[in-house]
Amino acid sequence: MAINGFLFASILISCLAATCYGITFSSLQRTLDVTASPQSGQVLKAGEDNITVTWSVNTSFPAGTDSSYKTVKVKLCYAPISQKDRGWRKTVDIMKKDKTCQHLIVSRPYTSSNNTITYTVKRDVPTATYFIRAYVFNAAAEEVGYGQTTDAHKTTNLFSVDAVSGRHVSLDIASVCFSAFSIVSLFGFFFLEKRKSKALAAK
Ligand SMILES: *[C@@H]1O[C@H](CO)[C@@H](O)[C@H](O)[C@H]1NC(C)=O
Ligand SMILES: *[C@@H]1O[C@H](CO)[C@@H](O)[C@H](O)[C@H]1NC(C)=O
Repeated sequence: MAINGFLFASILISCLAATCYGITFSSLQRTLDVTASPQSGQVLKAGEDNITVTWSVNTSFPAGTDSSYKTVKVKLCYAPISQKDRGWRKTVDIMKKDKTCQHLIVSRPYTSSNNTITYTVKRDVPTATYFIRAYVFNAAAEEVGYGQTTDAHKTTNLFSVDAVSGRHVSLDIASVCFSAFSIVSLFGFFFLEKRKSKALAAK
């Protein structure tokens, strides 16, 4: 009994120490300076326009801050205005549950120099307002730092993406409906023919 109680207490304590849920965003240091090409308020076309992102360790941190950095992931993240009333884009402090940054720009091994990438906005990026954030990970694939193009309240340097136009979407829907209709009618005719020939055979 006493051992069970002890086990329970230690599991509870390790959960409280956040190992149970993993890393939280609020525990991460903003060690990276991240800049990107979009101007504040610019509207980018998905599938066409490019974004250039540059990142480096903020020089106000001591040398060796990046000694545990193994991987960097740069992502497009939803600004608060595009998260409103959309639970599927919600910001959660527990990193595993956070849905702020859903669109990967690049994932690559961390190096201390030449940290620039040009990315063409993917066609599946929805129309919304965004900022860019980079996370650095250690060898255990845990987040150990971040940087972003906006301020802590996510109000400055925001830009938008204009997704594939509505006309294309409705054309796609029309062609899907049309194909479904053709398949159904094909089976319909097939079935009728079958019945007809059966009826003839029975005569
Ligand atoms: C974006 O980059 C691609 C590939 O480098 C290039 O072909 C394209 O013209 C660029 N788009 C714009 C709008 O500059
Ligand atoms: C570097 O970090 C310091 C201290 O956190 C901050 O005041 C400064 O704005 C950062 N530099 C850049 C370029 O973001």
